[in-house]
Amino acid sequence: MSGALAGQTALVTGGSRGIGFAISQVLAQDGARVAIVDIDEKGAVTAAARLEGDGHAGYFCDVGDPGQCRATVAAVTRAQGIVTILVNNAGITRDSLLVRMKDEDWDAVIRVNLTGAFNMTRAACRGMMKRRSGSIVNISSVIGLMGNAGQTNYGASKAGLVGLTKSVAREFAKRGVRCNAIAPGYIATDMTAGLDERTTGELGSRIPMGRLGEPSDVADVARFLAGPEARYVTGQVLAVDGGMAM
Ligand code: NAI
Repeated sequence: MSGALAGQTALVTGGSRGIGFAISQVLAQDGARVAIVDIDEKGAVTAAARLEGDGHAGYFCDVGDPGQCRATVAAVTRAQGIVTILVNNAGITRDSLLVRMKDEDWDAVIRVNLTGAFNMTRAACRGMMKRRSGSIVNISSVIGLMGNAGQTNYGASKAGLVGLTKSVAREFAKRGVRCNAIAPGYIATDMTAGLDERTTGELGSRIPMGRLGEPSDVADVARFLAGPEARYVTGQVLAVDGGMAM
C-alpha cells in the first residue's frame, strides 16, 4: 500500500469503535498495517476487516493487564511487523461525585486509562527504539486539563496521561521515538451517547465553535501526530475541542 505510513505497523487500543476506530481508519488510509486491540474481541476483528487495504488484524487485550499487553505486542510483531505507531486510546468512565465514589470505580478508571497506556508503551517501546523510529499518541481529555465535577477518577487519569506523555517524550527523544497527547473535548461517540439533549445543548453552548466534535476531528490530528509531518513535534498536548480549553 502506498501512503505516508506505508510499511509501518500501527497498534490502536480501544480501536473497535468511536475515536479509536476513526483513528484506525485514517492510519489505514495512509498505508499503515493496523492492529486493533480491544477487550471486545469480536468488535476488534470486525473493525479490522472494515479497514481500507490489507494486513490489518484485531486482537483481544485488556490494556490494564501488563502480561496481556506484552503478549499482544509480541503477537502483533510476529504477524504484522514491529509496532512503530502506538495509539493509547482505550478509556472508560465511572462517574460519581467524590464523596460517593467507590474504591473500585477509582481503581478501574486509573487502571484502564493511565496504567493501560503505561503497560502498552512499555511493551511496545523496545521495538521502536531498535528501529530508532516511532510515534506514540496518547488520547487524554480536556477534563484532564480543566477538571470536571463528578469525574475525579477520569480527570486524574487523563491529567496523569499528560505527565506520562511528557516524561516518555523526554526519555525517548534521543532514540528517535516521539510521544504526544491529544486532549479531545466532547466528541459524539458511545461514551457520550448517554447524555440527554439538554446536557448536549448546554455543552454545545460552552464550546466556542458551538458543536460537539466528531471522531474524525480527533482522527485527523492523530494522523498528523503519528506521521512524518510531525517529525519535530514531541511532548505536546493538542486540544481538539472546538476551543473549549483555550
Ligand atoms: P468508546 O467507549 O466509544 O470506546 C472505547 C473503546 O475502548 C471500546 O471499544 C472499548 O471496548 C475499549 N476498551 C475499554 N476498556 C478497555 C480495556 N481495558 N482494554 C482494551 N480496550 C478497552 O469511547 P470513545 O468516546 O471513542 O473514547 C476513546 C478515548 O477518547 C477514551 O480514552 C476517552 O476517554 C477519550 N475521550 C473521549 C471523549 C468523548 O467525548 N467521547 C472526550 C475526551 C476524551
